[in-house]
Amino acid sequence: MSHKVYDFDQVIDRHHTHSFKWDNVTYPANSDMLPMPVADMDFVVADEILAAIDQITSHGILGYSIVPETLKEAAQSKIARDYKWSTSLESQVWIPGIVPGITAACAGLTNEKEGIITAVPVYHPFHLVAGWVNCPLITFEMIKDGDRWTYDFEDFERGLQKGPKVFLLCNPHNPGGTVFNESEIKRIVELCAKYHVTIVSDEIHADLRLRAASEHISIGRFEQQPIISFFATSKAFNTAGLGGAVAVIPIAALRDKFIKASNGFFSMLSRHSIEVMLATYASGESWLSQLLPYLQANHDLLYDFVQSTPGLAMQPLEATYLAWIEYDEAILGDFQKKCWDAGLHVLRGEQFKGRNFVRLNFACPRSVLEKAINRMKSISNG
Ligand SMILES: Cc1ncc(COP(=O)(O)O)c(C=O)c1O
Repeated sequence: MSHKVYDFDQVIDRHHTHSFKWDNVTYPANSDMLPMPVADMDFVVADEILAAIDQITSHGILGYSIVPETLKEAAQSKIARDYKWSTSLESQVWIPGIVPGITAACAGLTNEKEGIITAVPVYHPFHLVAGWVNCPLITFEMIKDGDRWTYDFEDFERGLQKGPKVFLLCNPHNPGGTVFNESEIKRIVELCAKYHVTIVSDEIHADLRLRAASEHISIGRFEQQPIISFFATSKAFNTAGLGGAVAVIPIAALRDKFIKASNGFFSMLSRHSIEVMLATYASGESWLSQLLPYLQANHDLLYDFVQSTPGLAMQPLEATYLAWIEYDEAILGDFQKKCWDAGLHVLRGEQFKGRNFVRLNFACPRSVLEKAINRMKSISNG
């Protein structure tokens, strides 16, 4: 394992790289807008990942690729070691991304009358998917419990009584950062079993736990339940643009349904995606172990600012680098628009079905976050 010390303070210009975040065509020309919307990080990836890409470049051929056994075994070991779930290789289905995986699962398991249930606010594809596959959407509320977000379980049960086929779980939750604990996971499993609902679980943020103490519990451990669990290295190791993810589906009939629904829709994984995932599983941990305290310190800086600003509030995150900030419209007006006008792009809460919130991505060098905080200060003082 490499002992390199990574410099997350380094500011790297991402303009003119066709970056979804930095080259957003809606930004005013020549503005110095700070982009903090979509979830990727402004950090260089681990050396081992760059070396894997260099090796492909020097070989030079980019034909179709297979998913090697070594990659399947690496994912299996990671799930066993870090999420305490022992899985079989045959339960794996490799896919180009988790959003297409969720869409395929919903297409295969729902119909025009029996659809999806999910907790809101939530990462927007979780509610948009109902429109994509043409099925009903039932939502229930996340509520504050002390200093964290959790489900309103009574609201959840009322929703289940309306007859959805699929429960979409986001664990850790985006936005809000909740890492669901053992008793919450058990309650989810019990409720879904009671109403015969298949669980589709997106665990893409599992490695981005900010508090060392928090354990990620994969709901897939409850194997007697029909569950599709999605994992990927792309979010925590900042290779989101390359895609690549794995669905773990122990029940063969459910796996077949998922594969059938996805036939013809998914591209094959690219050589880059496969080699990068292999390198990440083999040696990305040193980079990640340095990243997490950096993100935690960014989180704390932002949290302290929010707590000390009249009209703003947030719950401390247990995971992710996506702050979910509430604002009081009576004090701050349209805070998202004011941020935009001050040169800071944060996402409007409505995108996630949350009113009077913004979502801010703080996975950037500290100096950039400080600039963003100063821009927010200028609004709240002005
Ligand atoms: C909860 C969640 N799931 C999935 C994704 C995207 O996954 P993919 O790029 O593999 O489709 C994101 C991206 O931000 C996310 O936050």
